[in-house]
Amino acid sequence: MLSYIIDGGKKLEGTVSISGSKNASLPIIAGTILSGKISKLYNIPNIDDIQITLKILKMLGCRIKKNNNKIEIDTSRMNKKEIPEDMMRRMRSTVVMAGAIIGRFKEAVFSYPGGCEIGARPIDLHLNAFKKLGINIEEKAGFIYCKCDKIIGTEIDLDFPSVGATENIILATVLSEGTTTITNAAMEPEIVDLAKFLNKMGSKIQGAGTNVIKITGVKNLKEVSYKVMPDRIEAGTFLCMVAATGGKVKILNAELEHITPIIHKLEECGCNISIEGKNIKLEAPKKLKCVDIKTMPYPGFPTDMQSIFGSMLTLAKGTSIVVENIFENRYKYISELKKMGSKIQLEGKTAIIKGVRRLNGTKVEATDLRGGAALVLAGLMSKGTTKVEQIQYIQRGYEKLEEKLQALGAKIIIKNT
Ligand code: UD1
Repeated sequence: MLSYIIDGGKKLEGTVSISGSKNASLPIIAGTILSGKISKLYNIPNIDDIQITLKILKMLGCRIKKNNNKIEIDTSRMNKKEIPEDMMRRMRSTVVMAGAIIGRFKEAVFSYPGGCEIGARPIDLHLNAFKKLGINIEEKAGFIYCKCDKIIGTEIDLDFPSVGATENIILATVLSEGTTTITNAAMEPEIVDLAKFLNKMGSKIQGAGTNVIKITGVKNLKEVSYKVMPDRIEAGTFLCMVAATGGKVKILNAELEHITPIIHKLEECGCNISIEGKNIKLEAPKKLKCVDIKTMPYPGFPTDMQSIFGSMLTLAKGTSIVVENIFENRYKYISELKKMGSKIQLEGKTAIIKGVRRLNGTKVEATDLRGGAALVLAGLMSKGTTKVEQIQYIQRGYEKLEEKLQALGAKIIIKNT
């Protein structure tokens, strides 16, 4: 079992370069299925979630060449339409592959993604949208069989601006007949990146980044080269980790527009932030101030940053109120933070965080990706040594986290215990 061992209390200082976005890479990799040709992708992060996705593509008959962050995917000989059940259970986001497989072959088989650590995460919005597109759905023994003769454009109004459902509808309709309009679509930057990639391939998608997206079906797609956007959550994580230790950092390759809500909250905490082109500089105050946070769909404050901010605020001056509006079970990290001496009261979807003078390092356990990163942050700012167990959750989504932190002066190592 791998753990991080962190010797806390060191100010982080220096420069860190942001990797490609996990949440943009996953649907874009799924999108390569649609062309039945070769796609060259750049800036793909080397993380476990990407390895799993590529493994599925190989199982479906695709050929993959990988060289660091560059991946070449040839989907011309893809001959299977069933996403293996164990893979589906390991990673929920594989559900967007269904849209791409149906989009190309008008047929797909997959199982329900496993109940995840951060909440129930149903896929009703995805399946209802497929039905509206004329796709026949049958459920048998936990498997979902999708089939149709053709996909015909229609109007789909989402009850909630789900990121995954919006991506799945786009992927399913790129090669359809007619035009599909999604209203109340998710507006996340990762959707814009997916649309840019697909449009470069020859799709006709308009309005990505707004809440109305129009997809006009095309007959063929072509070979494409595409560089994936930077990871906005990784950028936010490093800004918070440095702020939490009272340090100073220059973040390279971030997209400022994508992290505006995070920047605003850090400024409210007393951080001094300046922008130089694509680089962001942050200087932390001696003591952070408390802030209130409510997670919302983009352009609101991202749910993926809730635990990381929550952890940072345990040492801020005053009481912070955090409200999680997107996922119902995203507070598992709090019981671990309490072991380190934090004062947090949980009332439904609200966490009341009373700033304390210090946290003490101890043994804690990551229970999900972002909650795990929150514990690493806590370890970096506490007194003594913290052992974060179950780091496989963290390695799913952060490329070379320990190396990047070491370069900023953190005392963090991986140990097999
Ligand atoms: C994506 C991101 C995740 C992020 C989330 C919200 C990826 C791989 N993951 O997840 O990191 O935290 O967006 O920004 O990109 N819902 C339903 N029915 C559905 C679909 C969703 O009720 O069919 C609910 C979910 O349970 C959740 C909310 O809608 O409460 C938001 O989910 P959604 O936007 O779909 O998130 P994901 O695409 O799963």
